[in-house]
Amino acid sequence: MTELVIVSDEGPVRIVRMNRPEKKNALTMAMYDAMTAAIEAAAANSGLRCLLIAGHPSAFCAGNDIGDFLKAAGEGGALGKPILRFLYALARCEVPLVAAVQGNAIGVGTTMLMHCDHVVASSDARFSTPFVGLGLVPEAASSLLAPRLMGQARAFALLVLGRPLSADEAKAAGLVNTVVAPDAVEAEAMKAAREIAALPPQGVLASRRLLRGSPDEIVKRIDDEAALFKTRLQSTEARAAFEAFMMRKR
Ligand code: COA
Repeated sequence: MTELVIVSDEGPVRIVRMNRPEKKNALTMAMYDAMTAAIEAAAANSGLRCLLIAGHPSAFCAGNDIGDFLKAAGEGGALGKPILRFLYALARCEVPLVAAVQGNAIGVGTTMLMHCDHVVASSDARFSTPFVGLGLVPEAASSLLAPRLMGQARAFALLVLGRPLSADEAKAAGLVNTVVAPDAVEAEAMKAAREIAALPPQGVLASRRLLRGSPDEIVKRIDDEAALFKTRLQSTEARAAFEAFMMRKR
């Protein structure tokens, strides 16, 4: 069976690659677990100084697997524990996070980037969070982090209206640092990761803590959103939207 998440270390940089291209890197519970384990283990490995999250040229990540959402809706609606553990790991991660984005970054594919310190996007990347259209609410503390990053008006357009951002718009909104040609994304992201990894690690750690503020605030927002998400997952609006997606080709 193909590995759905590939973890590899290149010197001080750990690459965590989502690898389910046939489903546009929609995340399953097993994928969340594998990503969480890779992130948490990096913190315990003093030789690792930066984490690089990557996808596939055809898609960075199409969000949570909608089939899993449909299943969760029928089982009481809770955001699965693997999802929460992944979001906590992002919020509490003390190793700098870099992302390399090609193609679509949808739902958690976009909101995970709000936890990253440096994002490189290809010129064809597209960022969207269609939560409300799916009958859901924003997650991953994006309701806290997006207004901070891009201001209320742009955060509302992204998170509530579900308006996608192009790579250049995401850069203007502060979500992305650099936009490059598709074939240059990974090299550019690796360059940034190596640059971060070469800095004095204790200086990076202390500065990063100052810049990010308390992870407890972020974790609390993840929990607040998850409580609402649970109610919304069971709503008729959400179920109808998931079923429409699953049935759209039939
Ligand atoms: N959950 C489950 N399956 C997904 C998925 C998701 N989030 N995103 C894509 N897939 C699957 C498709 O069902 C399809 O499977 P199939 O080949 O068995 O039919 C496969 O991935 C390829 O997707 P497809 O829609 O055919 O590719 P596309 O290039 O036309 O469109 C997307 C790509 C990502 C734009 C489109 O699949 C999409 O909108 N996905 C849903 C995104 C979403 O709403 N995520 C939830 C956010 S909260």
